[in-house]
Amino acid sequence: MSHAAAQGDGTVTSHEKIFTGERRAQLEALFAKYPTRQACLLPALWMVQEARGWISEPAMAEVGEVLGVTPAFVRGVVTFYTMYHTHPVGRHFIQVCTTSPCGLCGAEETMQAILRESGCGELGATSPDGRFTAIEVECLGACGFATPILVDDDFIEGVTPERVPGILAAYK
Ligand code: FES
Repeated sequence: MSHAAAQGDGTVTSHEKIFTGERRAQLEALFAKYPTRQACLLPALWMVQEARGWISEPAMAEVGEVLGVTPAFVRGVVTFYTMYHTHPVGRHFIQVCTTSPCGLCGAEETMQAILRESGCGELGATSPDGRFTAIEVECLGACGFATPILVDDDFIEGVTPERVPGILAAYK
């Protein structure tokens, strides 16, 4: 079942319900394991992202409705974490640490090599072939191994501009 929903900018989009059928049953099973429905927010958001690839405003509203919290609360959580996408992204999502310690060790050059070699061109953009989206993030907790990057769930340390083509080639 779908219904029209107004985005924050006033645009009306069609939203196909996410938590129906088997996915709803999976969510109900999660409710049994957590003290409150609200506590299921992070896994519920993962379910949305796995189903749709990103989390739209109507999807945030649906999550809020199902969990009994406001869409604004859901949005606050979604926008706090860089692993949740608020717009469509490429098949592979690249996160690059550019915080000062890594910056001093060449993170900016690595970032530029990633943007160039992936075809993304600029931060947050998706390559024309739909393979990659790249963003910069704060400290990834591997400051001694600059530059660390995350490609999807793969944590890769010591990335230099020279290594970028070989690393990206592994992601089709
Ligand atoms: S500053 Fe880059 S991993 Fe900590």
